Amino acid sequence: MSIQQERRPLDSEGLSTPGPKPIEWNKITKMPTVGILGGGQLAQMLYQSAISLGIEAHVFASVTDEAAPKYFRDITKASSESWTPPEIYHFAQKCDAVTFDHELVSPNIVRELEKRGCLMLPTASTLELSANKANQRQRLSQLGYALPPYQICNSVPETVSFGERYGWPIVIKPSTGGYDGRGVFIIENEAEATTLFNTLSSHLPFVVEPKLALEAEGSVLAVRSTTGECLTYPMVKTMQVDGMCREVTCPSDFSDEVTEEARKIAENLANELEVVGILAVEFFIVGGKLLVNELAPRPHNTGHTTIEANMTSQFENHLRAILGLPLGSTELRVPAAAMVNLISNSNSQNVIPYLPLALSVKKASLHLYSKTPRKNRKIGHVTATANSVAEALELARKTVDILSGLDISEG
Ligand SMILES: Nc1ncnc2c1ncn2[C@@H]1O[C@H](COP(=O)(O)OP(=O)(O)OP(=O)(O)O)[C@@H](O)[C@H]1O
Ligand SMILES: [Mg+2]
Repeated sequence: MSIQQERRPLDSEGLSTPGPKPIEWNKITKMPTVGILGGGQLAQMLYQSAISLGIEAHVFASVTDEAAPKYFRDITKASSESWTPPEIYHFAQKCDAVTFDHELVSPNIVRELEKRGCLMLPTASTLELSANKANQRQRLSQLGYALPPYQICNSVPETVSFGERYGWPIVIKPSTGGYDGRGVFIIENEAEATTLFNTLSSHLPFVVEPKLALEAEGSVLAVRSTTGECLTYPMVKTMQVDGMCREVTCPSDFSDEVTEEARKIAENLANELEVVGILAVEFFIVGGKLLVNELAPRPHNTGHTTIEANMTSQFENHLRAILGLPLGSTELRVPAAAMVNLISNSNSQNVIPYLPLALSVKKASLHLYSKTPRKNRKIGHVTATANSVAEALELARKTVDILSGLDISEG
């Protein structure tokens, strides 16, 4: 039985999640308009896919989103950092479906817009899970997935007793506000824990974990449509530095058992949580076993290789999914690919003089995000394709080194 037959579509009669209606292609005559909340690099790459599909895209950007105004034709500039329901509602009303560039929009606002009939995808209930690490851990553990050992802590004494039980250092993740490793704190002792509780009390509770000896990390993207159709992308291997993803390679070198188990977990999660759009599932591998680290219900940094390496990119499939269109094949179309993030090494990094040399590296594709460089800020990425992962990784690293002013040998 196909997934479509097993899973009832989200708008079928009597379904548990009624909500706003998905797009009915047999009733519309004009191409739908997709709204994107947030104007960062994910919005940029979603927009590139929207153009190819002939879909209108409007963005609702913050004053801090520098690049979006340069390329979006239709842009609403949020008047302040605190996005208010009336402003977002005014924007959402002009769109047939609204999706997200980031998870910083309050799920309460999204729920309110859903009540007013706006098609918000992912939905408020999916966002509630992803925006709060503590809720996410608890839900994943109720669903029975293998997770890192953890405790939800509200106080220093609870945290200290966790540290004494599992051994220091421990890892503390405030339930909200973290991304790119900025919400991951390695804590050595009670004094450090106390300082963190004092400085980040507005992000309580904290998810507290032992610092695990990770053998490797990987990720699987699932994509699920409003029709219930669900596909997964081949697993990728990810490499992080200081909690931030630096490199992604595919195919991963994990065993067939591991990749198949990870694939099934991602597919089950997308279906169980009724996610619409991309769901990225990040995994730790510890002692040969998969542990689910975290979920993100949107196009994801670990899926950027899909642009050059897979039949359909994560961005195009995200759009197809939220618009209820058939999903495109997720298969690899090259033997191997590698992505390396371009992370600014100073507040004044200038890649422009290095652009010609970087572009002379054959089989490497450059994606610049037009962001003002700040030390440790992700300002772009490079994906290379090749006959082997080693070769692809070498090309992508070389291109990033050139752009960073570190490698000026001939491309
Ligand atoms: N318990 C742990 N033990 C060891 N390393 C960890 C642990 N938790 C997190 N890390 C490292 O920190 C990275 C970031 O952690 P996590 O994914 O929880 O944070 P994040 O800031 O939400 O990241 P993202 O950029 O994916 O949003 C992980 O990919 C891993 O490399
Ligand atoms: Mg992560």
